[in-house]
Amino acid sequence: MAKKKKKEVKVNFNTSWEYAPAPESKDHVRLKDRYDLFINGKFTAPVSGKYFDTINPATEKKIAEVAEAGTDDVQLAVKAARNSYEHTWSKMPARERSKYIYRIARAIQERAREFAVIESMDGGKPIRESRDVDVPLAAAHFFYYAGWADKMDYVAPGKKVHALGVAGQIIPWNFPLLMAAWKIAPAIASGNTVVLKPAETTPLTALKLAEIIQESGLPDGVVNIITGAGATGAAMVHHPDINKIAFTGSTDVGKIIQRAIAGTQKKYTLELGGKAANIIFEDAAIDQAVEGIINGIFFNQGHVCCAGSRLFVQESVSDIVIRKLKDRMETLIVGDPLDKNTDIGAINSKDQLDKIKQYVKIGVNEGGDCYQSSCAIPSKGYFFRPTLFTNVSQSSRVVQEEIFGPVLAVQTFRTVEEVIEKANNIPYGLSGGVWTDKGSKIFKVTSQLRAGVIWANTYNKFDPTSPFGGYKESGMGREGGLHGVLPYVEIEN
Ligand code: NAI
Ligand code: MG
Repeated sequence: MAKKKKKEVKVNFNTSWEYAPAPESKDHVRLKDRYDLFINGKFTAPVSGKYFDTINPATEKKIAEVAEAGTDDVQLAVKAARNSYEHTWSKMPARERSKYIYRIARAIQERAREFAVIESMDGGKPIRESRDVDVPLAAAHFFYYAGWADKMDYVAPGKKVHALGVAGQIIPWNFPLLMAAWKIAPAIASGNTVVLKPAETTPLTALKLAEIIQESGLPDGVVNIITGAGATGAAMVHHPDINKIAFTGSTDVGKIIQRAIAGTQKKYTLELGGKAANIIFEDAAIDQAVEGIINGIFFNQGHVCCAGSRLFVQESVSDIVIRKLKDRMETLIVGDPLDKNTDIGAINSKDQLDKIKQYVKIGVNEGGDCYQSSCAIPSKGYFFRPTLFTNVSQSSRVVQEEIFGPVLAVQTFRTVEEVIEKANNIPYGLSGGVWTDKGSKIFKVTSQLRAGVIWANTYNKFDPTSPFGGYKESGMGREGGLHGVLPYVEIEN
């Protein structure tokens, strides 16, 4: 018999190397069609009688409707918080308080997958980020501050420390569950009770957290979660029986809040906008720096107050850095937030998408060179391609103003002195990044940058033990670590 000639097998490189879809399942997620307010340990229909929709920004479809708290509802929530502060929480031994906080932390871990999926559905962030960053860090904050509850005597050794009373907490839509954890954990660990308002586009994980809080047996009224938009937040700010306002959001609203509480006894912390300088020196590990630039600006669609939105590249390496950056941008996958391959999910809302588009127009009109990756984006939902501007100047609006989207402004520099001058020439002062091989250069630059958090040879790293907050128009007060306890206590001298 004639031997059959073996067919030669060749690898065909001329095919598409796209990833197959890898969608995370929604089957385990339990959501109600309608959510009431969480006041005094119970879900209660709003006195206002009003509800509003929260949608999925990737599909534009309604997920659920959520109560809109009016002035009477805010009053009920504050009353519940005051009552539980006076009669229960402030009377309870600190070690007992910490047990509840540990319990909340563990319950978040147990239901991490459900939280991650809901976070991505309600706000548009990629599942990889909600699963690996938002949810584990939220649990870590509760764990960390649970440990502080019975150590208040060490907050200011030798001095008496006591809670303020009722804290009103208003949070934004970019890290909904994580911001709830940042706010609630230190406040209740240090003996306060709280009324928390999530942002109107992303209320669902806070309401899920309310379910966990209810199951944890935390005494009624220690944590109250009320939903609504700016008017609800304003009613909290003006409420006379709130001792402290903790706010994270836009600089404009931060200023309104500051004006509203001037001359009252209320304390406040404000974590506002940013426009961070990410500085690449010629001696940096270039490929690593390119990854850091990508992570700095495209993490969470650029909806990050500490995003590295101003890139400064030393002139001698600017051509290669920009070329590698553009190549890397081409590989980013924009699309379904629930797909595990997705790098950039949906823009949080139509309003925010319009704002980003408007800024890109402004950048082009100002004479900037706009580059966008050529990736496909879904036809439905709010999506935006990774974008960068070169040929911009210090005075360009895309350089000076917070865009809060996947848009990077690139400038070059020659000397250390020049880049420090340029980096500080901005109304904000929240964060920054420095990439260099030289430790001495890191110290020289970081000690002169006016920013609350500066990363060296990395970017966007967070830890509950580490303080976070800004200078200038980026706000005041710190969250995280021991610093995060201080704004919630009175220290007797
Ligand atoms: P925003 O500041 O209006 O919203 C943040 C929170 O404040 C939400 O819970 C909102 O309901 C509440 N709020 C709104 N008006 C209020 C008022 N008068 N009194 C009390 N609470 C009030 O932010 P918005 O309009 O959603 O986003 C606009 C821009 O703000 C973004 O494009 C971005 O540049 C910036 N921003 C910055 C954030 C940060 O983390 N630094 C977070 C969110 C937005
Ligand atoms: Mg939503």
